Amino acid sequence: MHLDYNTALVTGAAGFIGFHLSKRLLADGYQVVGVDNLNDYYDPSIKQARLDILKADSRFTFMRTDLADKAGLEKIFQDTAIDVVVNLAAQAGVRYSLTNPQAYVESNLVGFVNILECCRHNAIKHLVFASSSSVYGANTNMPFSVHHNVDHPVSLYAASKKSNELMAHTYSHLFQLPCTGLRFFTVYGPWGRPDMALFLFTKAILEDKPIAVFNHGKMKRDFTYIDDIVEGVVRVMKSIPDPNPKWSGDAPDPGTSYARYKIYNIGNNQPVELMDFITAIENAIGKKAIKNFMDLQPGDVPATYADVDDLINDVGFKPATTIEEGIGKFVEWYKEYYGI
Ligand SMILES: NC(=O)c1ccc[n+]([C@@H]2O[C@H](COP(=O)([O-])OP(=O)(O)OC[C@H]3O[C@@H](n4cnc5c(N)ncnc54)[C@H](O)[C@@H]3O)[C@@H](O)[C@H]2O)c1
Repeated sequence: MHLDYNTALVTGAAGFIGFHLSKRLLADGYQVVGVDNLNDYYDPSIKQARLDILKADSRFTFMRTDLADKAGLEKIFQDTAIDVVVNLAAQAGVRYSLTNPQAYVESNLVGFVNILECCRHNAIKHLVFASSSSVYGANTNMPFSVHHNVDHPVSLYAASKKSNELMAHTYSHLFQLPCTGLRFFTVYGPWGRPDMALFLFTKAILEDKPIAVFNHGKMKRDFTYIDDIVEGVVRVMKSIPDPNPKWSGDAPDPGTSYARYKIYNIGNNQPVELMDFITAIENAIGKKAIKNFMDLQPGDVPATYADVDDLINDVGFKPATTIEEGIGKFVEWYKEYYGI
């Protein structure tokens, strides 16, 4: 079912993906209510700089609120007529979840239940939420499909994202809240996250410092350019999931339901070897990296690869940006932002 909306609530609007999505929605004529707690998991000044850009548009309203603050969140929903919610706010990162599990419980579990409750009580037409390729955990059957079982996460981060999918299904079943979960695959691009490989590698190479190459370079990632992620989100937002008439409890399909609930992968469908990714960064910068080869980190998976057939079939879109093009745009942004 196709729907057009006036007002979108985007959580995590000061974050990497939330910023780009909000910018796009404003350009498309939406009113955007952005929610973010501006936490210091990474340098908050970059979150502030993203927000300054969004705030230049009068149709953007910012609310500094924590998803775990139930009353604060309820007030936002009560004060504004919101059509659609895109929940991107979360404690992200696999490695950090080994040392700070509580942060994942607060933002990704408590916070997500609050979002579900607000959607339920305010007749939200569609809840779209960020899941992650990390839910595939110990799976090795590639490409990763939303129709595969994903019951073996290997980090608490992944488990929290899988939990979001499960919780959303119950709200879709019990309260007819249409819910779509999006499993993003390693997102990169301008304004990207300072804790992720592209940012860390670019910074280190420019500063003549070594880069940590995990699993001795034997890693593959389905790196997905930010504009492709945003295009996928915008299309999915407008497409409320239809119940799957063929769904059967005898052989339950994990990616669909008899309820208005659906899961999509948004990935490039073209995994890249870590060493080729590094070469592309070196080429964009014009300088070689000093490589410090290390073991696979606990919680990490050696490869990701997205099956995007459902995305193509349902919303007619497939990410296609090459890493050469995407990395070039990131390096250009990085140099300009940091005045290099
Ligand atoms: N970037 C990726 O490669 C990737 C891959 C898979 C999934 N995801 C998911 O996509 C979403 C967006 O990721 P991102 O890369 O933009 O991360 P990000 O950290 O840049 O953005 C998340 C934003 O949410 C905010 N936030 C965190 N906890 C909050 C809370 N309790 N209340 C209010 N705001 C809170 C943060 O301040 C931040 O600005 C996350 O849910 C993440 O788990 C990202």
